[in-house]
Amino acid sequence: NFQPTPDDHFTFGLWTVGWQGRDPFGDATRAPLDPTETVRRLAELGAYGVTFHDDDLVPFGSSDAERATHVKRFRQALDATGMKVPMVTTNLFTHPVFKDGAFTANDRDVRRYALRKTLRNIDLAVDLGARTFVAWGGREGAESGAAKDVRAALDRLKEAFDLLGQYVLDQGYDLRFAVEPKPNEPRGDILLPTVGHALAFIDRLEHPELVGVNPEVGHEQMAGLNFPHGVAQALWSGKLFHIDLNGQSGIKYDQDLRFGAGDVRQAFWLVDLLESANWAGPRHFDFKPPRTEDTDGVWASAAGCMRNYLILKERAAAFRADPEVREALRAARLDQLATPTLAPGETLDDLLADRSSFEDFDVTAAARRGMAFERLDQLAMDHLLGAR
Ligand code: GCO
Ligand code: MN
Ligand code: MN
Ligand code: MN
Repeated sequence: NFQPTPDDHFTFGLWTVGWQGRDPFGDATRAPLDPTETVRRLAELGAYGVTFHDDDLVPFGSSDAERATHVKRFRQALDATGMKVPMVTTNLFTHPVFKDGAFTANDRDVRRYALRKTLRNIDLAVDLGARTFVAWGGREGAESGAAKDVRAALDRLKEAFDLLGQYVLDQGYDLRFAVEPKPNEPRGDILLPTVGHALAFIDRLEHPELVGVNPEVGHEQMAGLNFPHGVAQALWSGKLFHIDLNGQSGIKYDQDLRFGAGDVRQAFWLVDLLESANWAGPRHFDFKPPRTEDTDGVWASAAGCMRNYLILKERAAAFRADPEVREALRAARLDQLATPTLAPGETLDDLLADRSSFEDFDVTAAARRGMAFERLDQLAMDHLLGAR
């Protein structure tokens, strides 16, 4: 019946349902949501937990006493509902001080301030039981060429992650970082624009084991990339530390549609991938209910994210269990792809001596073989559309 329960591990950012609908062309269309109300409503809908930026919970500029009160009320709502906080992140993009970035701002004092804001929030994250700390560098980038020395900026970004990693180790915290790539918006071009860029960057850090990625559906699709492929590579690298689920229709502004809207085929293959890989992390929704919606529409949109995930999970399982699909997978030789190219114990010399692999190989016959992918894909389509 596609009714979510906490066992499904669905989580939402406070800023998602809490988005007031302010965009570059229009004012807010909705009133602010109290974070404790968000916790209660999401719990009623069957979610497992919530996530937040520091400023979502504690308005920027609050005094220490105000901060303590906000955190206390939030903690009470969590205790009352059993909702968890698996991930926390820092807002390093809204305040004008971050207009040229945070960890890579040209201004050194801004970088030092960004580090302090983040370190303080790491303490709060750990206090609330979070195990993942997301870092989305929305303002780390440029609109023009000479404005940013990208190699120097990457040095500063590495310096920041090395310091944050050192802090977590020094404090004995059980916390890992997840870098969230995005190609553009709000900056003209953002550093670490894709999952691939982020994975390569992480390799250069002092403590790469502490840092993974937080890919977002729409962000890879804004760059025209195949999201399930990016997630598969992150999994293959042992670097999928978190995931932001939402929807996007092609290469345009960041739509942050509810999960399942936008490219439904990629959504199907994504759920198939996460479920086949037994992804153990939360299914985190980072979406924005369109500004056309009132409060009822906001909760309908949130419920839709979870419902669509559960529907796609059921469809993907039916696809994998279908005997005709299994036969079609064999016809498409997926079993061969899973077999190493050299036999166990076979050496490069053995391959060079194997005439059947080259001298006697019938390239013409091999080139004539069909791959039978279209039949396989139609079976997937039938399952996705509920026709099987
Ligand atoms: C976006 C981003 C942001 C970040 C979030 C965490 O849509 O551009 O997804 O929503 O994920 O703010 O910092
Ligand atoms: Mn987004
Ligand atoms: Mn996101
Ligand atoms: Mn977003």
